Amino acid sequence: MGFLPFPPSTTPAFQRLCLFVLFITLSFIPEHAFAATRHYKFHIKLQNVTRLCHTKSIVTVNGQFPGPRIVGREGDQLLIKVVNHVQNNISIHWHGIRQLQTGWADGPAYVTQCPIQTGQSYVYNFTIIGQRGTLFWHAHISWLRSTVYGPLVILPKLGVPYPFTKPYKEVPIIFGEWWNADPEAVIAQAMHTGGGPNVSDAYTMNGLPGPLYNCSAKDTLKVKVKPGKTYLLRLINAALNDELFFSIANHTLQVVEADAIYVKPFETETLLMAPGQTTNVLLKTKPHFPNATFFMTARPYVTGLGTFDNSTVAGILEYEPPSHSTSLSIKKLQLFKPLLPALNDTSFATKFTNKLRSLANAQFPANVPQKVDKRFFFTVGLGTNPCQNNQTCQGPNGTMFAASVNNISFALPNTALLQAHYFGQSNEVYAPDFPSNPIFPFNYTGTPPNNTMVGNGTKLVVLPFNTSVELVMQDTSILGAESHPLHLHGFNFFVVGQGFGNFDPNKDPANFNLVDPIERNTVGVPSGGWVAIRFLADNPGVWFMHCHLEIHTSWGLKMGWLVLDGKLPNQKLLPPPADLPKC
Ligand code: C2O
Ligand code: CU
Repeated sequence: MGFLPFPPSTTPAFQRLCLFVLFITLSFIPEHAFAATRHYKFHIKLQNVTRLCHTKSIVTVNGQFPGPRIVGREGDQLLIKVVNHVQNNISIHWHGIRQLQTGWADGPAYVTQCPIQTGQSYVYNFTIIGQRGTLFWHAHISWLRSTVYGPLVILPKLGVPYPFTKPYKEVPIIFGEWWNADPEAVIAQAMHTGGGPNVSDAYTMNGLPGPLYNCSAKDTLKVKVKPGKTYLLRLINAALNDELFFSIANHTLQVVEADAIYVKPFETETLLMAPGQTTNVLLKTKPHFPNATFFMTARPYVTGLGTFDNSTVAGILEYEPPSHSTSLSIKKLQLFKPLLPALNDTSFATKFTNKLRSLANAQFPANVPQKVDKRFFFTVGLGTNPCQNNQTCQGPNGTMFAASVNNISFALPNTALLQAHYFGQSNEVYAPDFPSNPIFPFNYTGTPPNNTMVGNGTKLVVLPFNTSVELVMQDTSILGAESHPLHLHGFNFFVVGQGFGNFDPNKDPANFNLVDPIERNTVGVPSGGWVAIRFLADNPGVWFMHCHLEIHTSWGLKMGWLVLDGKLPNQKLLPPPADLPKC
């Protein structure tokens, strides 16, 4: 909106009148009247934290574990200054934020920026456009996100209601994993030996493991509620390597949002969330004080062959006793525990994901691309690399574990891809020829091929601005079929289809849902199956796509999309900020 300075000849009364008119005008344009600039400071520093009777020094934001909550409204500009006081390099990703034209603020190290080195700082500067709901932020380098993560809550614009019952209170619950060991040492060792990594020692809710673990009864999340109210739980799976089931004993949850997209509400006792996924649910409390407390528990959904942390995190839903019963002791109340699905319950996973549909109404339409400019078919799965440490490696048959997309295990460069592109220095950094289809097709979900070796490289898909993309991701059975939660930076996509076995390009597209498919930023490729997504490449930049199981990302299950500038000024990547870190 233009803002003309007053010519010096105008009278003060006239100026006041103008300001008044301007104020009234702005009041009728909520986007402009209420968008704010919000400043945050993230000091990356070490902090001693004790869990499971183990005290260790962990990398944190501002000494907090989990990190601070970021709250903004749709339309707000966020300026988050990150100052690195630790020995590790750091970068922070705002998971699910579209970063329209501001790819420099996206955060994945060596993709959109060089990491922030010790003693350096960087201001992440971006505006939240067309999004509202629950997301999260996390470190995006090595395995530092094991302790560096926190909720990112986007409220609707002021005066815009939720499309569901107004909650009495909102409670973010962020799931994580706790290692007694240093996760950086865990991944370093795994990458050296080529074997699977040690697993976590506990799952946590808001950093707390809860009473089912040694020494942890005092570290239990308690959600205190009143009877007869509606609560909005903002659930975030920030775990490193595990999809999680979640349930509250004797309570039904109503799912209203996923990955910061409103969904058609549905009821469920149990939720499934992959790392990188968020879900908002309404919890209606019982009409009267129930004379009981209720466990809220989470444990993993696992499809792969490797070892995993099979423990259970529990928190407590605690009703506020009626005021006349002051003598009532919470400890003596009956405690109910939820029944969670079996650890490998793929049929639950399928039924649950099939229930997720976009709200798709006039106010929140599902803008599913109806025509497709470019089709891609990517295999995702595990593989091997030859042993590199002069001894026998601990991966399959003495090799090293690897993972790949279209059999390319992605190698991060030692400079950032986005800079290389922007400054026209891409030659030695990446190749623009990521394959659209597997080079050697095989029976992806049948008996795996004898040769499981992957190729290694740094390749991108290059897309002209506004390309409408359809991507089928196919799990492979190499070293075991496994569910892979694939996360795409810079976009939301629509999940138009999914199935088991090999995708059939002649039959399956006929069943695609192009009306109200779920829109999200992270989708589980079903174990031994495929998923089809569509998105419009309307955001120029380099956008990382990877499995959000951190070990698979470490092994190379990642790639990137380079979306070129469009013709119009608002279709171009903005210039890099002056404080962008250097490698
Ligand atoms: Cu939540 Cu690339 O990550
Ligand atoms: Cu994976």
